Amino acid sequence: MTAPVSFKPELIAALRDARLIAALTGAGISAESGIATFRDAQDGLWARFDPRELATPEAFARNPKRVWDWYAWRRERVAAARPNPGHYALAELEGRASEFALITQNVDGLHQRAGSRNVIELHGNIARVKCSREGTCVERWETRGEEVPRCPSCGALLRPDVVWFEELLPADALAKAEDAARRCDVLLVVGTSAEVYPAAALPSAASAAGAIVVEVNPNSTPLSHSADYLFSGAAGVVLPALLERLRV
Ligand code: APR
Repeated sequence: MTAPVSFKPELIAALRDARLIAALTGAGISAESGIATFRDAQDGLWARFDPRELATPEAFARNPKRVWDWYAWRRERVAAARPNPGHYALAELEGRASEFALITQNVDGLHQRAGSRNVIELHGNIARVKCSREGTCVERWETRGEEVPRCPSCGALLRPDVVWFEELLPADALAKAEDAARRCDVLLVVGTSAEVYPAAALPSAASAAGAIVVEVNPNSTPLSHSADYLFSGAAGVVLPALLERLRV
């Protein structure tokens, strides 16, 4: 049986008194929903697939069908998944906090499905599709046989509305995330390897602005040595326990 998670009274007080609580999440928070992470050595997506063949603009230019099909496969898995107690705990925390911002690197939309409202999607959303030329999102598209669907207005190929390697993050989402990191009193960093920038720079920006940084991750990351509080456990266990403690 896993030992119950204990929380220092100072952390609970800081969360209760916070004007703004922010959370930065990564693939780890969706692991308990059956969505593979990226860098897990065994079943991580990048252990099974080559990101240079599937998640760069060049890969799409070289073989759009392959990229389109891979994201369609991931989209089906995400659609079949459900939020887990970690997602629900953050949605509840948003309801308890005077101000809350959820910054996610995830493209699975599970935070929103768990009821989170102020969600900042840094890397896009796999349920959305956009024109590869105009960049505009397309609600409806036709799949003709083996072809990659085309933009109804300009005829260019459609692509998933996610941020690929070597691409810039959406400027407005990044600006909102940096603002939340600078203004927050507590930053919860959950389920990210903290290796991919610019998202991985947010915890040090928050810390430099005086925020308390809390890491929740069963494995250590480059952030672990500098976090103010470290919970080496699963998000779906630690976060519900934290909410239970906050309810007392
Ligand atoms: N609870 C909390 N953390 C977990 C859990 C869990 N149940 N299971 C795994 N983790 C942790 C792992 O220890 C790891 O540190 O989640 C982290 C997942 O790291 P990555 O797979 O690197 O995912 P992420 O940090 O979100 O990747 C960042 O890289 O590939 C790109 O665009 C992609 O958004 C992604 C970005």
